[in-house]
Amino acid sequence: MKENSIISPDHRIRVHDRTFRPYIRKDEIEEMVREIALGINRDFAGEELTVLVILKGAMVFASDLIRQLTIPITVEFTKASSYGNAMKSSGTLSIEGLLTEVTDRNVMIIEDIVDTGTTIRELIKHLSGLHPKSITVAALLSKPSMHTESQTTVDYVGREIAPDFVVGYGMDYAGQGRQLDAVWVASEETIA
Ligand code: IMP
Repeated sequence: MKENSIISPDHRIRVHDRTFRPYIRKDEIEEMVREIALGINRDFAGEELTVLVILKGAMVFASDLIRQLTIPITVEFTKASSYGNAMKSSGTLSIEGLLTEVTDRNVMIIEDIVDTGTTIRELIKHLSGLHPKSITVAALLSKPSMHTESQTTVDYVGREIAPDFVVGYGMDYAGQGRQLDAVWVASEETIA
């Protein structure tokens, strides 16, 4: 029996001070990652790719994704944060350690989840000035109704979701919950 199949919809977990319920199973995530990798391998056949992993949230997704890429890749990291300890984007972004050697390279930004789209837009703006060959974005999840600009393009997305707050598979709530192997969504209920 798969580990996932024993998590019932009634199951609840606590992360920090909030309760979360099951949202996306581990096997569904694996399928989403497989599909994204297939698309990238197909679209970049014969090319090389620099994947730019946005820490900390995208580390789990990126480590699964890159092991399914069959094209030559290099891996770079940058740290971007807009949430702090809250469940809502602060709207201001801090970017640390952004690589600069992207000229003439195919750069793919790897995000865990696109919410307002500020993070990817700011990174794309910065990277564009460095004259890469191409810039694309791969995200496990996206919340289209939260995008604050209509031209927020996510080239490879595992699933579009409602504007709910999720944790697990790298994504955190107040720094916790990243190690969960499935995705859980914030529930209004409280655990007694
Ligand atoms: P954006 O800049 O508003 O698109 O926010 C993107 C970043 O916010 C992601 O890289 C995540 O770190 C974080 N984020 C957005 N939504 C969630 C969520 O539901 N759970 C956990 N982190 C999230």
